[in-house]
Amino acid sequence: MRTYLTPLRKIRLMCGIVGYVSKASVDNADHSALDVVLSGLKRLEYRGYDSAGVALVTAGGELETAKKAGKLSALTDELAEHPLPAAQTGIGHTRWATHGGPTDANAHPHLADGGKLAVIHNGIIENFAHLKADLVAEGVEFLSQTDTEVAAAQLAKNFQTTGDLTEAMRVTATQLEGAFTLLAVHADAPGTVVAARRNSPLVIGLGEGENFLGSDVAAFIDYTRTAVEIGQDEVVTITPDAVVITDIEGNEVQGTQYEVNWDTAAAEKGGFASFMDKEIHDQPQAVADTLLGRMDTDGKLALDEMHIDETVLKTIDKIVVIACGTAAYAGQVARYAIEHWCRVPVEVELAHEFRYRDPVVNEKTLVVAISQSGETMDTIMAVRHARQQGAKVIAICNTYGSTIPRESDAALYTHAGPEIAVASTKAFLSQVVACYLLGLYLAQLRGNKFRDEIAAILTELQAIPAKVQRVLDEDKEQVLALARRNQDVDSVLFLGRHVGFPVAMEGALKLKELAYIHAEGFAAGELKHGPIALIDDGQLVIIVVPSKRGRDSLHAKVISNIQEVRARGANTVVIAEEGDEEVREFASEVIYVPETTTLMAPLLTTVPLQIFAMELATAKGLDVDQPRNLAKSVTVE
Ligand code: G6P
Repeated sequence: MRTYLTPLRKIRLMCGIVGYVSKASVDNADHSALDVVLSGLKRLEYRGYDSAGVALVTAGGELETAKKAGKLSALTDELAEHPLPAAQTGIGHTRWATHGGPTDANAHPHLADGGKLAVIHNGIIENFAHLKADLVAEGVEFLSQTDTEVAAAQLAKNFQTTGDLTEAMRVTATQLEGAFTLLAVHADAPGTVVAARRNSPLVIGLGEGENFLGSDVAAFIDYTRTAVEIGQDEVVTITPDAVVITDIEGNEVQGTQYEVNWDTAAAEKGGFASFMDKEIHDQPQAVADTLLGRMDTDGKLALDEMHIDETVLKTIDKIVVIACGTAAYAGQVARYAIEHWCRVPVEVELAHEFRYRDPVVNEKTLVVAISQSGETMDTIMAVRHARQQGAKVIAICNTYGSTIPRESDAALYTHAGPEIAVASTKAFLSQVVACYLLGLYLAQLRGNKFRDEIAAILTELQAIPAKVQRVLDEDKEQVLALARRNQDVDSVLFLGRHVGFPVAMEGALKLKELAYIHAEGFAAGELKHGPIALIDDGQLVIIVVPSKRGRDSLHAKVISNIQEVRARGANTVVIAEEGDEEVREFASEVIYVPETTTLMAPLLTTVPLQIFAMELATAKGLDVDQPRNLAKSVTVE
């Protein structure tokens, strides 16, 4: 029996996918496949905008495609210039690049079977290199760097042997590892779209004489509100009059039908009130996807993107992390882990301060540039400065082909999917995870940790998505109520020690960004050296408490810090590990998160702080997706 990384109830990922079939003849068609597919892509563009493409099958059995790098408008311009013939069967894709840069060639659909089969894909196929090698040996030629084209070629091969597109898709799904939603159309099968999914989203839309597929209901909400869920590892075939779902063995299964009662704007947000709320809920998947494909079959870390010579990585004597905003706090969390695992000094510096300090950086320095967008000008300038000094630079980035990874020596991508809300949430968690992978990779390479030690840490990391989901499921209501009760506060202090310190600073930043109120994150031990003067009657103080099983005496020290502020009238809210009963006595409220190791704790304790800031801002009537004065990507120094 195959096991998959973290079963998740709510799965959201990058890339938008649409499929459509209708029986209207071309002449009296009120819905042409192209119109339906393009309107679906427009609604799904928030899922990715690196490229867009469509494939249509005409009633006469011709496969027609168009695809273009860039936003959907680039594709519609292309279609205006070179129109496609009318058709009632079509698929479309809007891409968030993972394998291969955002180019025309890497845009979906990808073709196989002599140009008769078109495939679109969302997800990451982990064994694509292995499959590709076999296909190349059999004489298949590839035009792109994508894993999708490998899936298309594999499907074509299976179609040749089975003669049936649905059966071929089923066989292909058993041969692929990783996460995927695949949609395929074939010139020889007009009126049919076949799909499969594993760890990646897909829903069916039911119409009259027409049926739909989409990454989410936003894809078809303009046409139908009757949707059907598709289970894990299921294959679906839609024709104008029928929808057939089968499991991986080919047994027919019933999907769960439901009516969508969201409006169209809510549909793009997956039914959440804001993109921020959706992205907070994307986090289990963002963490799982960032881990995906980073280990080889023996459980050894294999970072394919690490194009820096191993001998260089073995001899570096310092790591400098450069970043801005939330990304810099991710770097501060990672510092504790990397220093502990690799025994290499790690400095974390705000990118805009870095080069003006004339930093000591040379060939023996590894610079890690963290950026969600990859376009933050301060970080770009710092990367350039570091490389001029001879340092090797690795980018940790969420945006494929953006400037920072392009200008770095290597790039480790976080696979969080597009982050739309200006203040960062899911990017933070995936940046911490990517930094941890880098730290473990260095520890493995430099021999600082035994194989079994690294494996144990990776096992804990793999358990994180389900634990984040538990925080969302079990703590959200409590945190929402806490935020609503505190909507009139004008100042909040956050305290933490060790990895809890950058978490406290990130919690404060979220509150400043979203709710426009004064907030500070302090190292709990620093309190007595000054900030404690701020504590007055009723001051809200949120304290991140370390595990009792962690570093000696840290837990006890933080408890003392809570007592110090409580004695001066503070209203103390504590984030603590499940089972920590000791903290109750000192807290007006405790929010419990699941047990994990000290270094993994930030991946859980940050989540209630994000929800708190979001809800407090919402209660104040503020726009959490687009806070005043901020920009998602700051492209000026
Ligand atoms: C802006 C955003 C922040 C973000 C920072 C760094 O200030 O408002 O949310 O953390 O830029 O962005 P980057 O894309 O480099 O991670």
